[in-house]
Amino acid sequence: MVWFDGVVLVAELNVAVVGCGYWGPNLIRNFAESKLTRVKYVVDLIPERLAKLSRRYPGTQFVSDFDKVLEDRELDAVVIATPVHTHYQLAKQALLADKHVLVEKPMCLNSLECEELIALAAARKLVLMVDHTFVYNGAVRRIKSAIDAGALGDVLYFDSVRINLGLIQNDVNVIWDLAPHDLSIMDYLIGLEPTSVHASGVSLVANKQEEVAYLSLQFGSKFIANFHVSWLSPVKIRRILVGGTQKMVVYDDLEATEKVKIYDKGVDVSATGDEDRYKTLVEYRAGDMLAPAYDLTEALKVEVEHFADCILNKKSPLTSGESGLRVVKMLEAANASLRSGQPESLVKKAEVLLR
Ligand SMILES: NC(=O)c1ccc[n+]([C@@H]2O[C@H](COP(=O)([O-])OP(=O)(O)OC[C@H]3O[C@@H](n4cnc5c(N)ncnc54)[C@H](O)[C@@H]3O)[C@@H](O)[C@H]2O)c1
Repeated sequence: MVWFDGVVLVAELNVAVVGCGYWGPNLIRNFAESKLTRVKYVVDLIPERLAKLSRRYPGTQFVSDFDKVLEDRELDAVVIATPVHTHYQLAKQALLADKHVLVEKPMCLNSLECEELIALAAARKLVLMVDHTFVYNGAVRRIKSAIDAGALGDVLYFDSVRINLGLIQNDVNVIWDLAPHDLSIMDYLIGLEPTSVHASGVSLVANKQEEVAYLSLQFGSKFIANFHVSWLSPVKIRRILVGGTQKMVVYDDLEATEKVKIYDKGVDVSATGDEDRYKTLVEYRAGDMLAPAYDLTEALKVEVEHFADCILNKKSPLTSGESGLRVVKMLEAANASLRSGQPESLVKKAEVLLR
């Protein structure tokens, strides 16, 4: 980025992407295609991975020395797409070198690390954003607009299934691998923080990290959220249901088109009674189904433009460090509940931290 008298002359941000394994190349492609950004460096510890990608991006330097990259005063931002146990250290180094940061989900291994990064970014007036990709997905944003417009009535439940024959990870369990997507979607759509998390799960094959898990979140109100995540399903399912008093939504991410369906279905309950008899009347509503149109732009493209806009115009990101922290708190509570077999209170934790 080139500044002159406080005015941006060239609004092209120099970016370094760290990690070019499975997900990194998607970020590299979107940052390279954006008019607002230029991928100046790609960093990875494995030379073969760098060599494989380097032919595709001749203007980019493919290197293994992250410390050296951070010394470049022209570098504006660092994008971290490495395994979760490295996120905190790499993000901290980047922030200390005065670079804006986009870090993969889940943000860190625990909430204390997230809080430290949030404070560091705030103190240095840097953008800290978390890649909660689905928040930038057109289908999810269409559901959000329906909820915000009151089309669903009062939202009653959120129910998600994200299962397939997945890649069993060594460093995290299936909750930390898959649930951040659904927890961040719920956090964005509903905007409520849970009061407790109850998780059950088991390692059935590798005898290490849980490969199948179920989470139930309570909110201290008339709303409940449930999540089923698994690496051991013979079929792939990516489905979210959001139920409201007026309408109900089904979001099936595997549908080629019409991923979102809004059903005018529900149950109306009324009570009648006299002095002797009290009766509950239940009526079922089954109206039309609407498959609304939504923006088909690739979520990562929207996200990359948003990250650049936040840096150039000093805005706070939609998926800020705080949203990363909220998701990590839910994941931490889920792990604690897996160990104890009991629901883990998030309210208690907040009170203890305040003392
Ligand atoms: N947003 C999404 O939809 C999405 C999808 C998949 C993965 N992810 C996230 O992306 C991250 C990476 O996942 P992945 O599946 O690509 O992992 P991966 O193992 O395929 O790739 C990680 C890469 O990082 C490199 N690396 C590790 N430590 C490094 C370091 N200190 N410096 C430089 N390079 C280093 C590795 O050599 C490897 O090439 C994880 O946090 C994961 O949760 C997000």
